[in-house]
Amino acid sequence: MENNKNKILVTGGAGYIGSHTCIALHEAGYEIVIYDNLSNSSKEAINRVSSLIGKPIEFIEGDIRDAESLRKVFTAHQFFGVIHFAGLKAVGESVAKPLMYYSNNVSGTITLLEVMAEYKVTNLVFSSSATVYGDPETLPINESSKRSCTNPYGQSKLVVEHILEDLATSNKQWNLINLRYFNPVGAHTSGQIGEDPNDIPNNLMPYISQVAVGKLTKLNIFGNDYPTVDGTGVRDYIHVTDLAKGHVDALRYAEHQTTPVGFMPINLGTGKGSSVLELVTAFAEVTGQKIPYQFTARRAGDIASCYASADKAKQLLGWEATHTITDMCADTWRWQSMNPYGYKAS
Ligand code: NAD
Ligand code: UD1
Repeated sequence: MENNKNKILVTGGAGYIGSHTCIALHEAGYEIVIYDNLSNSSKEAINRVSSLIGKPIEFIEGDIRDAESLRKVFTAHQFFGVIHFAGLKAVGESVAKPLMYYSNNVSGTITLLEVMAEYKVTNLVFSSSATVYGDPETLPINESSKRSCTNPYGQSKLVVEHILEDLATSNKQWNLINLRYFNPVGAHTSGQIGEDPNDIPNNLMPYISQVAVGKLTKLNIFGNDYPTVDGTGVRDYIHVTDLAKGHVDALRYAEHQTTPVGFMPINLGTGKGSSVLELVTAFAEVTGQKIPYQFTARRAGDIASCYASADKAKQLLGWEATHTITDMCADTWRWQSMNPYGYKAS
C-alpha cells in the first residue's frame, strides 16, 4: 500500500462541483482518486480536468453502495480523507423515486462511512445543502437555524446530517465537516468544465444560459408576488470555484485539529441574496444576449428568500467567496457558448 497522507478520495468527482474541486485540490498539492458511477456525469469531464491540471487522474468507476468495490480502493490507497459528493440531487425526481434517493444518498453514505471506519480514515467533507433549512424563519441563515425539509432529496441530506451527528457522538475520532452549499453556479474560467444537466435544467442559471444559447426559447419565472425586492425569488448564488476552494480549506482545517471536531456544519454562501430578475438582468448585461422571459405560477415547494450567514466559514476556515454575480454570469456563458451540448459532441 502507498503511504500518502496527501491523498484524497473524491466520490462523485466527475460531477459538476466535484470536477471543479479536483482542480482546486490539485492546485493545493493534494493527490486525487475519483470514485464515481457516472450516473449523472461523463468520463469526458475527467479527461478535461486531467488536461487542465496537466496529468492523468486516477479514476475508478464504482458505486458508493458497493462495499466490496470501495474496500478495493481503500486497500490500494491510504487516504487522508474523503470528500463525498456522490449522490442524486433533483428535487422533482426525488418526489417520484424516493427509494432511489434514499438508497443512493443515505444507504450509499452509510456504506462509505462503514468502509472508512474499517480503514480508519476519519476525515470526511460532506456535501450537504441549504435545502436542510427549509423555509427559514430569519435571514441570514446561520448554522444553528432550524432544520426541516419537505421533499425526499432534502430529507436524504438531513438524514445523513443526523447520521453524522450520531457517529460523532459515538466515536470521538471523526472530523465530519458538513458543508451546506447555497446555490452553486458558474464554471471554470477556462470554459472547459461546467454544469451539464441532463434534459431541461431545473435550476435557474443553467436554464438562463440555455435560453441565451438558443436551446430553449424563454425562461419561465416562477412567481412575481413574493415579498422580495421585485417579487421574484431571492437566493445566495455562489461561484463553483469559490465552493471548490471551500473544500480545500475544510480539509486543511481537519488536518490542523489536535482534537477531532466531530460533526461540524458550515455554510458556504456569499451572504448576499439576488433575485431572479437581478440574475437575468446581470446575465443579459454581461453576455450581450437577450433572455426572453414570462412570469408563471410559483413552483411548488419554493421559498421566497434564502441567503447565508457565511461568518462561520470565515472564522473557522478563513474562507470567503470572492467571485461576483458578474463573474458567475461570464463564466457560465463561456462554458455554455464553448460547449452548447455540454460534454457531448452534439
Ligand atoms: P452532480 O450530479 O454533477 O455530481 C454528483 C456525482 O455523483 C455524479 O458524477 C454522479 O455520477 C455521482 N453519483 C451519484 N450517485 C452515485 C453513486 N451511488 N455512486 C457513485 N457515484 C454516484 O451533482 P453536483 O451538483 O456536483 O453535486 C454534488 C453534491 O453536492 C451532491 O451530493 C449534491 O446533492 C450536493 N449539492 C449540490 C447542489 C447544487 O446545486 N449543485 C447544492 C447543494 C448540495
Ligand atoms: C433548488 C432545489 C433545492 C436545491 C437547489 C440547488 C427546489 C424546490 N429546490 O433550489 O432543493 O438544493 O435547487 O440545487 O427545486 N426559477 C425560475 N425559473 C426556473 C428555475 C428557477 O424562476 O426555470 C427560480 C426559482 O423559483 C427560485 C430561483 O429561480 O426562486 C432559484 O431556483 P433554483 O436554481 O432551482 O434553486 P432553488 O430553488 O434555490
